[in-house]
Amino acid sequence: MRSLIDEALALTQRELEAHRIVPRNNVGSDLPPVLADRVQLQQVLINLIMNAIDAMSAVNNRERLLTIVSSTDGSEITVTVADTGIGIEPEKLDRLFEPFFTTKRDGMGLGVSISRSIVEVHGGSLRASPQRPFGTAFHVTLLPAENGSPNPKPMSDRGN
Ligand SMILES: Nc1ncnc2c1ncn2[C@@H]1O[C@H](COP(=O)(O)OP(=O)(O)OP(=O)(O)O)[C@@H](O)[C@H]1O
Ligand SMILES: [Mg+2]
Repeated sequence: MRSLIDEALALTQRELEAHRIVPRNNVGSDLPPVLADRVQLQQVLINLIMNAIDAMSAVNNRERLLTIVSSTDGSEITVTVADTGIGIEPEKLDRLFEPFFTTKRDGMGLGVSISRSIVEVHGGSLRASPQRPFGTAFHVTLLPAENGSPNPKPMSDRGN
């Protein structure tokens, strides 16, 4: 997981630098492997990082920090992508996950809804929470790989 996040930060490095954003990968290298397709999880992380960049590009009066941390309770693993951006109004927190909901002039409004679908297909969850005193955090919760196959079957093979 730590190396996957380093890769995501490398892939978005130009954007981060262009917006003078300081990224921090505080994910431990001892985190157990998660149950997820590597490429799809990379896509989720990049979506969340790009949203964090957008949210911070309008902020000029404080540090622009992108912090990625992990935690585990033994049964689940959570990776949190937190920014010091403009934040999300409480009444928009749920609408965010609707396809085509966007507040950006050139946004599609698909990033977080696709990301949530990807995470849920792997038996996990994606939620957002406001950060104090400012900013937003997205929490990706996944299962450890030992609990099942590391390569989940396509949805059509799942019998539902
Ligand atoms: N980190 C964040 N801080 C503040 N608002 C956010 C953040 N992430 C998402 N949002 C809000 O949620 C909306 C939906 O995000 P989503 O990624 O689905 O679409 P988008 O970024 O607008 O377009 P795209 O399809 O290009 O990703 C955004 O338009 C924005 O209003
Ligand atoms: Mg987006």
